[in-house]
Amino acid sequence: MSAYGDTRAITPPDIRSRKGGTPLVCLTAYTTPVARLVDPHCDVVLVGDSVGMVLHGLPSTLGVTLEMMITHGQAVRRGIKQALMVVDLPFGSYEESPEQAFRNAARVMAETGCTAVKLEGGEAMAETIGFLAARGVPVMAHVGLTPQAINTIGGYRVQGRGGDAERIRRDAIAVGEAGAFAVVLEKVPEALARRITKEVATPTIGIGASAACDGQILVVDDMLGLFGDFRPKFVKRYAELREAAAAAIASYAREVKERQFPAAEHVFADAPKPADTDATKSGEAA
Ligand code: KIV
Repeated sequence: MSAYGDTRAITPPDIRSRKGGTPLVCLTAYTTPVARLVDPHCDVVLVGDSVGMVLHGLPSTLGVTLEMMITHGQAVRRGIKQALMVVDLPFGSYEESPEQAFRNAARVMAETGCTAVKLEGGEAMAETIGFLAARGVPVMAHVGLTPQAINTIGGYRVQGRGGDAERIRRDAIAVGEAGAFAVVLEKVPEALARRITKEVATPTIGIGASAACDGQILVVDDMLGLFGDFRPKFVKRYAELREAAAAAIASYAREVKERQFPAAEHVFADAPKPADTDATKSGEAA
């Protein structure tokens, strides 16, 4: 059941209408099983270009390709029934011109079945956002810390603590006025997030930007404790699945070496017994 009382898929206008209301719940997903887990609880599921670091071991999002986003978008699509699905446009696929952005956004939408795309940048991307929105491509914007600009920013530190606060405020206003249906605010101080959320008619989705925003997003592997030892201040660990998985794998290795696994219940008899007729994963009867 969605926040709107039925099971129809959530749309960009639904998200826009939640401005100032019950906070929007958003998470990333990159695979079908994880999309199935997060979908019932989320308003927005983002196939983020963080997939490059989280699943592919890349040092930043800069090496993520359109093909990677499409492959993961297709997987996530199969796991979503009700949330709004957004796919990140990767670095280099939209900055050149509004036409380039439209061509690649349309391909992502057609090949993944997503409803919207996300792109990074403020005032500099306003024209592109307007171009896309006017041609049937709903856009989620992303300002503050924009990881695709890591080489110009010079690091992943908090943005908007000094003179750049006014620029980030102008960025958020510009993308809202250009037609973005939501704007991600990444790693900005609470006072700035509060001010922007108050001034901009578009819902703000915070990541490291305080509860003053209209919603929150986290990288799902971070909040589940699956992604390495990455422990930024803004991520709350709701589980420690990496530790649980490491302990399970160590148990398996020990039991194999000690011939405790497989045990009698995992072994097939010469002739099938009634309790022994489960289909295996490959569809083969016991
Ligand atoms: O790529 C991503 O996962 C994102 C979120 C962190 C907002 O852009």
